[in-house]
Amino acid sequence: MLERLLRKKTVVPDSSLADRITDVKSRNIPAHVAIIMDGNGRWANRRNLPRVAGHHEGMKTVRKITRIANDLGIQVLTLYAFSTENWKRPKLEIDFLMKLPGEFLSTYLPELIEQNVKVEMIGNSDLLPKHTKKAIEKAMKETAHNDGLVLNFAMNYGSRLEIAETVKDIVALVADGAIAVDDIDESLISSNLMTAHLPEPDLLIRTSGEVRLSNFMLWQLAYAEFSFTDVLWPDFDEACMLNAIEEFQMRNRRFGSVEGEKNV
Ligand code: FPP
Repeated sequence: MLERLLRKKTVVPDSSLADRITDVKSRNIPAHVAIIMDGNGRWANRRNLPRVAGHHEGMKTVRKITRIANDLGIQVLTLYAFSTENWKRPKLEIDFLMKLPGEFLSTYLPELIEQNVKVEMIGNSDLLPKHTKKAIEKAMKETAHNDGLVLNFAMNYGSRLEIAETVKDIVALVADGAIAVDDIDESLISSNLMTAHLPEPDLLIRTSGEVRLSNFMLWQLAYAEFSFTDVLWPDFDEACMLNAIEEFQMRNRRFGSVEGEKNV
């Protein structure tokens, strides 16, 4: 009896999730999903735990969401893991956050390789501690030939800084005579951003009830659909991800026109 109950307990949610995945996959899947993983601190506070415990739990969510994104056939998953503004946090918290890529990748890299996931990073890696940079570079190297989901960590990333750097690069091209001022257009700017090789995000998800962009992919998100949820990042699970994709699939994306692209 107990065995039957236990079996039911594990099988029923899995199979209903599998059905939902099949259903969602029969419609339009966003090529690029970008996520602002917010609410780790509040998750920990509510449990009388230190904030870093929330970040650690959030790391487990990264694993879960990477797997389902891969299963769904999403091409790129960009995760805002550390912003250029996050250096203002207490040193202890920064140190912990900087250790997470190393822990995550040393634990899950074999699994990511098995799933054909390609690890990438956007942001300024020069200011990252050596161990953080090394862990990410190792994962990037070992997954470079994978052609499944791109798991793109935004680490020490800030959109305004990215745009400022891009402007400098383009001005240098003009100064060198490589391009003329008239050559500067939207596509030239896009192709000089850190995301030049990636499709633009179709869907932005932010957890924890906050409704703002916090300097995340300001240029790239121009035509993305936004999905905000009150769920805190450590509690964000496969069902939450499916909710967000289903919400996306209900939207009528018009890209400024009146006709609208049918999204399903
Ligand atoms: C914001 O929540 C979250 C962060 C600044 C860090 C996000 C990092 C992770 C989820 C782990 C990343 C894992 C890897 C593998 C890189 P908050 O701390 O601002 O939450 P609060 O608003 O409730 O205080």
